[in-house]
Amino acid sequence: MPHGRVAVSQITFRDSAPEERAAIHELAARAFGRPDEADLAIDLIAGPAETLSIVAERDGKIVGHVLFSRLDGPDKSLALAPLAVDPAFREMYVGTELVRHGIARARQAGWKSVFVLGEPDYYCRFGFRSELADPAIVEWQGPCLLALELEKGALSGWSGPLVYPDPFRKL
Ligand SMILES: CC(C)(COP(=O)(O)OP(=O)(O)OC[C@H]1O[C@@H](n2cnc3c(N)ncnc32)[C@H](O)[C@@H]1OP(=O)(O)O)[C@@H](O)C(=O)NCCC(=O)NCCS
Repeated sequence: MPHGRVAVSQITFRDSAPEERAAIHELAARAFGRPDEADLAIDLIAGPAETLSIVAERDGKIVGHVLFSRLDGPDKSLALAPLAVDPAFREMYVGTELVRHGIARARQAGWKSVFVLGEPDYYCRFGFRSELADPAIVEWQGPCLLALELEKGALSGWSGPLVYPDPFRKL
């Protein structure tokens, strides 16, 4: 049934539950139009690296998802990926609120920085900057590798390898 435009205040943002993996996979595959990022999300959630998994829910249905997973590199650092919003719920700030909610949860839990490989125009609204990510040694280094400090100065003076959890190698 068509739902029309929904105010973001009518959407709930919360940690995902273990039994929601199939729904998250289905949502991410639909959002990306292929299964690769959905597989990545599920492999990361099931894997040994610590994760933060946040869903957007509307009327009992998952309409968005964002995942954060632990990186080896700077102290207490996370990778943000993937971020997926149901095509029927785009341009309603669901993606923005998922990222905001995730960042708040990560800060609350004591994480100190977040890296993302993404569109700078989208991620700069949260404070992500490419200069902060420049010292990272990683194969996808470039202008779309961005970083955000959750604790002031968390990345200052840091440089070195940035190692993503294994499932990223399959992408
Ligand atoms: C990218 C994606 C998550 C955005 O979700 P969304 O909920 O539609 O985005 P929002 O409503 O929060 O967008 C907020 C603003 O960013 C803009 N925006 C949306 N997608 C953008 C993009 N890819 N690049 C730059 N700006 C973008 C919107 O136009 C809006 O601008 P405004 O503030 O001027 O109105 C969604 O389009 C999606 O799931 N895409 C497929 C998967 C993907 O590419 N994920 C990201 C890479 S991991």
